Amino acid sequence: MAVIIDGKKISLQIKDELKEKVEELKKKGIMITLAVIQVGDDPASGVYVRNKKKGCEYIGIRSLSYELSGGISQQELLDLIKELNDKKEVNGILVQLPLPAHIDEDAVIKSIDPAKDVDGFHPQNVGALCIGQPGFVSCTPAGIIQLLKRSGIQIEGKECVVLGRSNIVGKPMSLLLLKENATVTIAHSRTKNLKEVTRRADILIVAVGKRKMITKEYIKEGAVVIDVGINRDENNKLCGDVDFGNVEPLCSAITPVPGGVGPMTIAMLLHNCVETVGLQSL
Ligand code: GUN
Repeated sequence: MAVIIDGKKISLQIKDELKEKVEELKKKGIMITLAVIQVGDDPASGVYVRNKKKGCEYIGIRSLSYELSGGISQQELLDLIKELNDKKEVNGILVQLPLPAHIDEDAVIKSIDPAKDVDGFHPQNVGALCIGQPGFVSCTPAGIIQLLKRSGIQIEGKECVVLGRSNIVGKPMSLLLLKENATVTIAHSRTKNLKEVTRRADILIVAVGKRKMITKEYIKEGAVVIDVGINRDENNKLCGDVDFGNVEPLCSAITPVPGGVGPMTIAMLLHNCVETVGLQSL
């Protein structure tokens, strides 16, 4: 029987630690503010944004909401970001992705002040991660490192396979594992003999966006399996990229969906919001 890694519980631990830090900062007269921008009315984005704002409220930081019409021009969005960059009382800026097709996501990400980029998507922060310098780290991979560490799973020296190479998860995940002294392989849709590659993994991180793709043929006995996917199954129930029921008996530890990686993303966003205080006063 595998250990089921409880992301809800671990994220609550982190949020409670942050809540204490925020109280300490308030005593020194420091109040943290996160600006959250949502463009259009994508229902999934709406749920994520609501949960992020709830998280802010829980740890005691202020969130400002900017709910913009899907028809807004790129220039209008860039103008708003510039205004928020210039506002001293705004510590963090988050633009929920994806953006409508007529807006250039890269241009928007680049327009955010790197010192306020709590998502860790700005090329300056990605570069800093790459060469081991301080900066904001993308929240989902940072949350996975916390899940592993707080579950007592050793990373150093382990064979880690990251399945997926997105800028938000796969690439920063591999850099963070490398920083923890793991041996890292990045696999993706063009990888040959994928099952052979994933079966080498002591720790397998799956971020492919294909429901229940990973079955026991992809897993080495005793592996730790981290599932980043959030999909709907044939009965419209939430499920991951891993076929949990099929894989779980073979693993030493596994994250469920929901209640695994998802809550950690928000906890690490809040962590980054609290970190803005140190970075912006440098
Ligand atoms: N869309 C999916 N994941 C994320 C995330 O971590 N941050 C933002 N801003 N948008 C997302």
